[in-house]
Formats: sequence, structure tokens, C-alpha cells
Amino acid sequence: MTTATNETEPRHFLDVDDLSEAELLAVLDRADEYKRAVDAGDDHADLSGQTLGMLFQKASTRTRVSFETGMTQLGGHAIFLGEDDIQLGRGEPLKDTSRALSRYVDAVMARVFKHENVEVLAEYSSVPIVNGLTDDAHPCQTLADLQTIREHEDGFEDVSAAWIGDGNNVAQSFALGCALTDIDLTIATPEGYEVDGEVLERARELGGDPTVTTDPVEAATDADVIYTDVWISMGQEDERDVRMNDFEGFQVNTDLLENAPDASVMHCLPAHRGEEVTDDVIEGDRSIVFDQAENRLHAQKALLSWLLE
Ligand code: CP
Repeated sequence: MTTATNETEPRHFLDVDDLSEAELLAVLDRADEYKRAVDAGDDHADLSGQTLGMLFQKASTRTRVSFETGMTQLGGHAIFLGEDDIQLGRGEPLKDTSRALSRYVDAVMARVFKHENVEVLAEYSSVPIVNGLTDDAHPCQTLADLQTIREHEDGFEDVSAAWIGDGNNVAQSFALGCALTDIDLTIATPEGYEVDGEVLERARELGGDPTVTTDPVEAATDADVIYTDVWISMGQEDERDVRMNDFEGFQVNTDLLENAPDASVMHCLPAHRGEEVTDDVIEGDRSIVFDQAENRLHAQKALLSWLLE
């Protein structure tokens, strides 16, 4: 919480490249420490007395529960702010909501539809704003993804990843995360579903060199990690028939995995089994999707304590 007299410039986390490589690695190291602390039952109430506001304009399972549980484990408190439970849902300007929340809470996690809205929150907030997913970016997911890859690959060196499917918000933040950690990324999407060129440019500025293709087999071949996500995201339900047709051939199934004998399979969840990934793959030995889901908890705790220290 800040007052009118002690306002300072907070650090926000709107996308992965708001962190430098060194900062990202520091957050991931802290995430590993928190994971060990949870496993050992050690006290780590590093945010005692602090409060996180959680503003949701979209539904969530993982983001909501992992942030709220994380604040509890850190000795703090989280408040769920559904859009329709607060004045925002009745037309209060976002900038007024942001200013007012800054006077009560120590940080705000926001899941809003439009990326420009999370930017407005950040512009008018005097406490850190954390992007819990917009139509452009899902950086908290990427933190957990990188923690999971580092666990399973014993580091980032010589790791190759394939993104198969929609070049969506998750893919975009993942591309930035791969660039910061030197993961060799190939992105396979159907034509018309590519990762935004501006994001690819940012990835290249960070030292990454993502390969872009329309061939899922090319992307998957000999990859260490194969990552997919839903073909029909929230708000795209009316496009279902078109998208199901456009993504034909992009399913992560046992045939595709034959091209990558050592690959782990990732998915940010929720999954539509039988569409972008088959049931046997997500339930199989190579699936690390529930490690990814768990690591949302540890990675976000690390981010919050880093932002608030
Ligand atoms: N992956 C993810 O963000 O899940 P939720 O939509 O359930 O939060």
C-alpha cells in the first residue's frame, strides 16, 4: 500500500521482458527455494502483513488459486476482486480503480482481456501490477514453464523447445522467456495464427532466434520439450468450426512424438483433450503438465516477494 505522500515508481510485470536475464534467473532461483521450503514444511512468511488484490475479468482455476494460496503461504493475504463485484463492472474508469487499489493493497494481480487495460492499470498504480493474462501475454505462465523446463532438463543449456499450435498469448510470452534463457525455440502454427512479428522482434533483441514454420513435424523433430495450448481460447467459441479445421494436423499425439523420442510434453492447461493434445499423451510418462501447474505457485510467490522486497 502507498499513500499520497510516499508514492514511488513501482516495478510492474506485464510481460517476461520486464525482467532482465539476471532478474529472471534470480526469480527462478527463488521459486526453487520456495518449492523446497514447501516440500520441507519450512516457514517462509516473507510477505507477512502484505495484501495482494486479484482483479479478474476472465475465469481462472490455476491463476486464482495459485496466487491466493501463495500469499497465504507467504504470510500475507489475497483479495479476490471479480469485475462485477466491484465498481469497475458498473463503469468506474480503470485508472480510478487502479489509483484507489494502490491506497489499500501492496500489489495487484490483474487478468484483463485487453493488454492495453493492464497497461492503464500500471500507468496509474503506485504498487506493482502483475499481468495474470491478457490477449497478448501470459508472463506468469512462462515463469512456471521455465522453472519446469530447468527442473526436467537440468538447466537451460542446449535445450530445444517446439511450440505447436496457436501463436497465442502463452506462445508469445514463452518466446520471450526462451530468448532470455537461450532455449532454442521453433514455433509451428497454421498460416494466419503466427506469433506477432513485434514479439518475435523483441525476442531477437533479447538474443533469441526463434524459428517459425507451418510444419509441426519440423518443429517437433528431436525437440526436448513440446508445448501446446488450446486452439479455441476464451472468447473465441464462435470461431470453433473454422479453428478446428485450420488446426488440423497440429495435434500433439503419439505420431508426432515419434519425431522427438526424448521430448517432454507441456501444456499450460486447461486442455481440450482430443483437440490440441490426446488423452494418452497428457496422461503419459512424458507429460509434465501438472509439474507446470504446480510451479505456478512457486514461481508467482518468488515474483511477488521479489517485486515487494
Ligand atoms: N494456465 C492458466 O492460466 O490457467 P487458468 O486459466 O486456470 O488460470
